[in-house]
Amino acid sequence: MSEPVPEPIKRHKNLQPISREHHHGLLLSWKIRQGIAKNISYTRIKAYCDWFWENHLQQHFDFEERNIFPLLDKDMPMVKRVLKEHRRLRRLFQSDNKIEQNLSLIEEELVSHIRFEERTVFKEIEKTVSEKELALIEQAHSDIGKHATTTWEDEFWT
Ligand SMILES: [Fe+2]
Ligand SMILES: [Fe+2]
Repeated sequence: MSEPVPEPIKRHKNLQPISREHHHGLLLSWKIRQGIAKNISYTRIKAYCDWFWENHLQQHFDFEERNIFPLLDKDMPMVKRVLKEHRRLRRLFQSDNKIEQNLSLIEEELVSHIRFEERTVFKEIEKTVSEKELALIEQAHSDIGKHATTTWEDEFWT
């Protein structure tokens, strides 16, 4: 069985908590791929996807939109692109139609979204944003990180 191999990128320490969430996002795509390869029912995979969205990814998107993207000029093409991808991914996660097709789209598009953020957006932030503002990102992130979340028992990907 294939293992997920996320690109190791050395991030500024204040961005590392967000990068860890990216690692978990890449794992979600890997789990979807595993589920499909193992002929797991689409409703079972979708149930996990819904749980992951509601308990992890939704907050991650909101956090980026509130605390990270505004550090860059809103007219930059890279900022427009990530916001557009968020809108599209939100729609895919929240849809209950065409489950099979949407799971494949989520799997592909989430990986490319995360890679773009890591390789392009976060790189730009490290280059242009002050140390003080970077420290504020981590502070804001640790403030929201205290919510308890449930765990998911049905590990169909193993
Ligand atoms: Fe994002
Ligand atoms: Fe992200």
